[in-house]
This record gives sequence, C-alpha cells and structure tokens, in this order.
Amino acid sequence: MNGLGSSSEYTRLKKEINYHNYRYHVMDDPLISDADFDQLLVQLREIEAEHPEWITPDSPTQRAGSVLSEKFSKVTHPAHVLSLSNAFDIAEVSRWLERIEKLDERVKYADFVLEPKIDGLTVVLTYQNGVLVQGATRGDGIIGEDITANIRTVRDIPLAIPVTDASMAVPEMLVVRGEVYILNKDFERLNQEIIEAGGKPWVNPRNTAAGSLRQLNSEITAQRPLKILTYQILASSGIKQTETQWETLEYLKRMGFPVSADSVYCEDCEQMLKELEKWNEKRETIPYEIDGVVVKINDLRVAKELGAAGKDPRGAIALKFPARETTSILKGIGVNVGRTGVLTPYAMLEPVLIGGVTVKQATLHNFDFIRERDIRIGDTVMLKRAGEVIPYIIGPLVEKRDGSQQPYVQPDHCPVCNQLTEQLEGEVAVYCVNSACPAQLIRNTEHFASRGTMDINGLGIKVVEQIVQAGMIHDFADIYSLRKEEFLTLEGFKDKKADNLINAIETSKGQPLDRLINALGIRGVGEVMAGTLADEFGSLDRLIAADYDRLTMIDGIGPNVAQAILDWFTHEPNRLILKKLQRAGVWPVALKRTQVEMQNLPLSGKTLVVTGALVNFNREQIKDTIETMGGKAAECQPEYILCTGW
Ligand code: IVH
Repeated sequence: MNGLGSSSEYTRLKKEINYHNYRYHVMDDPLISDADFDQLLVQLREIEAEHPEWITPDSPTQRAGSVLSEKFSKVTHPAHVLSLSNAFDIAEVSRWLERIEKLDERVKYADFVLEPKIDGLTVVLTYQNGVLVQGATRGDGIIGEDITANIRTVRDIPLAIPVTDASMAVPEMLVVRGEVYILNKDFERLNQEIIEAGGKPWVNPRNTAAGSLRQLNSEITAQRPLKILTYQILASSGIKQTETQWETLEYLKRMGFPVSADSVYCEDCEQMLKELEKWNEKRETIPYEIDGVVVKINDLRVAKELGAAGKDPRGAIALKFPARETTSILKGIGVNVGRTGVLTPYAMLEPVLIGGVTVKQATLHNFDFIRERDIRIGDTVMLKRAGEVIPYIIGPLVEKRDGSQQPYVQPDHCPVCNQLTEQLEGEVAVYCVNSACPAQLIRNTEHFASRGTMDINGLGIKVVEQIVQAGMIHDFADIYSLRKEEFLTLEGFKDKKADNLINAIETSKGQPLDRLINALGIRGVGEVMAGTLADEFGSLDRLIAADYDRLTMIDGIGPNVAQAILDWFTHEPNRLILKKLQRAGVWPVALKRTQVEMQNLPLSGKTLVVTGALVNFNREQIKDTIETMGGKAAECQPEYILCTGW
C-alpha cells in the first residue's frame, strides 16, 4: 500500500517534518509557516494513533517528555572524550607550537582550524544506522551518564541523519561530540520569565544548560531553550573517515548537525596567529558565551599521532579569554519594579571597565541573594560581565571590609507608588500589588505594545512614559481611545508622528489571538504558553470561561500558571481592561482548528442567525464567537435564533 496512512507515507512524513525542523532550528530559515508545520505534526499524530506499532525513536513526536524514576545509568564512551590544555595569551600558543614542532616536524607545515570554545556542556551522541540511539554526558571522559531522554528534547539535534542530503551514505555507527549551550538572549528571556513567575533566576547560561540536561524529568528539559554545536567525530563505522578537522566540520554540517559558522580555516601558523588576534573583538559578536578559541591542527592523523598529555590532546590548545570578572565598590542598591510588580534589586557601582565596557549597574537577582551572600552597602564586590548578558554580582570580598559597610534593609514599600509590598508564601519574589502603580503601568503598556506582542510601532518605552506621566492612560487598553490631539500635546510630537502612531495603534487591532494573550502580561504566560492557550481555546471568551481543572488539563500548564491565569481574569481592573479591548474591537479569534476539534465544540453542527439590537458587540464579533464555538453564522434558515440583548 502506498496511499495516505501507509507505512511509506509515515516514513516520508517523518522525514519531511525532521527536515522542516532542521530548517527552523539549525538553519534559522524555515520554508513553511508554523501553522503548516503544526498541520504536518497533526497528520503524523493521526497516523501514529492508528498505528502505534509503527512509531520509531526518530519520529518528531518522540522528542519530549518522560520521567526517570532513578538516577541516570552509566555508559562507556567508544573513545576517550578528551579535554584541552589552556593558553592565556598568544605567546603561549606560539610556545605550544614550538613544543609540538619538536615532537613532529610536520607541524611546521601544518594548517589549522580555529573554533569558538563554547561555554556549555559536552555531550556525546550515538547514531546507529542513522537513528539517534543515545545521548550521554562526558563524565570522566571514559564513562558518562545516559541522558538520552533529555538529549532528544534539544530541537536542533537531529533524530535521524542525514537530514537533508540524500546522497550522503548512512553510517552504520556515528558518535558525535558537541556542546549544548543557550543563546544569551534566550537565557535572559528565561530568567525574565522565572522572575515574573516569582522564581529564582539562573546565575549563568552554562549552569542553566548543565542543570537542564541533568533533569530527571525531560519535560522540564524540553522547556529550556537548549541548542547544540558539534565539532568532533569520536567514532564511526560504515563510512570513510574524515582526514581533517575542516572536513569533519563540513561532513557534520552536511549530515544536518549544527556547526559553528564562526570557525576559520588557516593555511599556516602565521595566518593562524594573526587570526587569533581578532578573536577578542569577534567574541562580542557571538550570540552565546564563549570562553576562548580552540586552535586545532587540521590534519587529524598528525593530531592523533601527537598523542595526549594526560587528558589533553597535544594537537589542540584553548586560548582562553581574560575573565570578564572584576571588583568594584557597591555604592547603593536600587530597586526596579517589573511589569508584574516584582521588585528586583540592582547594584549601583563605582563605574568600572570590564572587557572594554564601563559598567555602573549590575543585577543582584533577588533579595534572597543579597541575604544569602550577606552583601552590604560599601562592600567591595566581585562582578562579571558575560557576553550580552546583563552584568551580575557574584558576591562580596569579605576580607576587604573595614567596618563601615552597612547591611541592606529590604524595602517594605514600593519605591515608585509607596504601597506596601507583599511576598507570596514559598516564593522568592517580592511584589508591589498596586495595579495602578505607574511603574507597572509603564512596563505593562510597553510589553503590550512591544514587537512580539501587539507590535505597535512608535509606542516604545519613552513614549509610554510620556503618556503615563501626562495621565493620558490608566491601563494599557486606554491606548485605543487616545486621540491625535492628545498626542500633539506631548513633547516631540508633530502631525506626522501623531498620525503614524494612531495608525499603528489601529493596525494592531488585527493582531492574532496568541499575541493578544501574550500582550495581557499574565504572570508565567509568555509567547509559547500564549500560543498553546490560543490553540486550545480559540477565543478570549472561551479562555475567560475556563476553570482551574480545564486549564491544568493542558500540557505544560502547572498549578501556578493556571492560578495566575484565573487570578488575572477575575481581577476587577483587568475585567475593565477586557471590556475596553472588546469595545475597541480588539477581540481576535484563532482561525486554525482541526476538524476533530470542530466536531467537539458546543455549537458544532448548529446554524445560528444573529438578529436584534446589538448592545455590547457588533455583528461580526458575534459571528466570530459562533464560529469559534464550532457553529455556523447564517443569514437565513436558522435552527436557532440568537437574541442579542445580552
Ligand atoms: S575540542 C580532542 N572544540 O572545552 C578534542 N572542545 O576545556 C578536545 N569545548 O571538554 C575538545 N568548544 O567541552 C573542543 N570547539 C570546541 C569546543 C570544546 C567547547 C569544550 C569541551 C572541552 C572543554 C575543554
């Protein structure tokens, strides 16, 4: 059989989805929309529901989620997973060259590869006949831990190879080494979400990656924005072995593995030493943490024959960057109020230069952190600037104290509106619960208008501050009733700017449901969760009507988020916001819905006519609601007539 639902169709569909996954996560260049991708997954799930016996480990439905009851089991690596020796300046790299030239004179004529030294966690991936069968940690280099379930959740790790190039032979066995890491921007977003949900933020991307991979519950790992970059073939069979490092990188890339685009080939040692000089600057352009450059002899045979000194191969060396850590004096502690009212302390520092950037402020994470580390005003503190991550305080240098340092007293009032703060039981975060607090109004409105949510061009933080300070809005829904004349009263606004902003506000009314849900700023509901809620409910009306049990039935929604959603929708000022949005016509419904779902909706199979005087809604909004609930809105021949005095 070769039709829809046949096993060959199943295999083809798996391949197609894995390919689109690769375009999205590895190449950052998707060929199809998210909705079309989801549709393919729905088809695959339908086939798998019919034929569970066909499901293979390389199916894209098998990425997420299982819970291990005990610890990870041990696995023996097929080859030694070696480490690297370090050099701290270029002169040391030259000395390394001299040393190994003495051991093997081919080094004199060698070419090299420079690669970023990714500050992540080494993993070892085993593929048998093209299918990922095992993922392991490095461990002691000989024995690691089996973290296969967690590895499978990392979206850019191929479940089956080759991903794209069908002309590539499928290796009988391939063991690949790479580094799992987190992009700086994803790290910041993750921490932001944790802070807003009242949790304890992670200290740096590397710890986060390591902690996530050592989770016993891979559903948690699946929620972390982990990525991989590969750079070594530890073992293989059934294919011709690569002869050089550059060829290895190209081979891995062609197979569909993510490989750093920043690696450079150098013809000889002069070029290599010259290239090395550029890396301090280049480091700034790399969107993840690197702690050095790895210099590798390109010829793998020469590298192998040079052998290893202990755990460090002689054919490669890491040129480590100077640590971006330094000390400064903590002059004071300021407090920011976030959009959910969370108070976050930050350090006000004696300005200090770290890696070419002057730092005056650094995050202190939360009040517990200040207490735990016993950080005092006037302390000499250690701080770190890591890539684009906001600089953060590591801790005080207690030995530098002279007795003048003052312990910090956590504020019990909001520094902006002066209302008493609150701390929920079991939570780290301290909140200002005054929803009229100008700090929150500014942050909430900025979030509502931002790129990833309602995308209102021209309504950035500066303008939001202006309109809040001028008392033009009391909540973010008020922006839909702002008039051009009001904008013209603000500094810097002329005819054109006011027109543009009014138009952008009007256009934003057409944003889809998931963006609007995200824009509301519900604690714990970010972009991904908003998408889930939009798909699940299809309209705000249905989301508002959902109770605790209905919400916690949804994959990925735990008790805290469910409660936060319920609280948000029952909070009186928020009900007013919703009313204002609905009146302004900002009430989208999700379009996409599978047929199965349509059949189970309350109005499935029913045709309704909208008639009578309309009070709170217009005709289109009511038709949309009927359709979201699975019904048909018609002009005549109804089964039911809906009277609209509600
Ligand atoms: S090569 C024989 N290349 O750095 C191969 N390692 O401090 C030896 N690392 O344990 C390793 N990026 O976890 C190599 N491009 C890269 C790397 C890299 C990060 C890590 C790796 C290693 C550690 C040594």
